[in-house]
Amino acid sequence: MPPSNNHGARDPAAIVILTGAGVSAESGIDTFRAADGLWEQHRIEDVATPEGFRRDPALVHRFYDARRVAVQRAEPNAAHRALARLDAEWRGDLLIVTQNVDDLHERGGAKRLLHMHGELLSALCAACGERHRWTGPLGDGPACPACSRAALRPDVVWFGEMPYPMERIYRALQRCDLFVSIGTSGAVYPAAGFVAEARASGARTLELNLEESEGSALFDETRLGRAGELVPAWVEEVLGAEEG
Ligand code: APR
Repeated sequence: MPPSNNHGARDPAAIVILTGAGVSAESGIDTFRAADGLWEQHRIEDVATPEGFRRDPALVHRFYDARRVAVQRAEPNAAHRALARLDAEWRGDLLIVTQNVDDLHERGGAKRLLHMHGELLSALCAACGERHRWTGPLGDGPACPACSRAALRPDVVWFGEMPYPMERIYRALQRCDLFVSIGTSGAVYPAAGFVAEARASGARTLELNLEESEGSALFDETRLGRAGELVPAWVEEVLGAEEG
């Protein structure tokens, strides 16, 4: 689906891309909603909610400390690299919004990128709200380097918390000509609502996923397969159409 500009101008189309765990699956990072309903052998309520953290902070820290180590060993795959190529070569507006907390998009080379669910390689101070780049463990309770008033927590958005810059994301959705969802189950809001928002603004919508998702019916087109194959082919199509 080569993007066309719906808004009358001769500028290249504005594209918003939403990515989820499926984009990183081929880099060896587990998706969330595996068939057993567990995330790396843990219940989501225990490791991805503020209540779970209050109940057992040591467990939650052990969990994210292990994820942080795993992410730093993983490498970007063909899907990350293709999106970085699109980011570098697409002359129009483009925004990649990822639900992933890994840094594989940026290590693949993407620049126009937002992490709506936070980042594993970042730590958040619950007292002053400062965010600090963090590559080591948090389980031993380091104090906030900015205010020293509280121990740091993982800078990931848990269920019940507000994702990062929603205003900017909604502005981009309202202006986009093409919305593409890649490797996400469409089970978690607000991201699951982005397709409806983009449609309401007149955008075309495309889904690239391994299997039909909860939101598949809302897309103009769904292509099924592995992100490592579908994404490079789609990027080639988009950039080829622009040249042609
Ligand atoms: N290529 C493309 N899609 C894939 C691949 C692959 N190689 N492997 C898996 N998928 C698809 C799955 O079929 C599934 O539809 O990726 C999707 C991953 O879905 P989830 O595991 O639910 O992950 P995601 O949608 O990113 O979860 C959203 O939920 O737990 C929270 O905050 C967490 O950001 C996360 C959010």
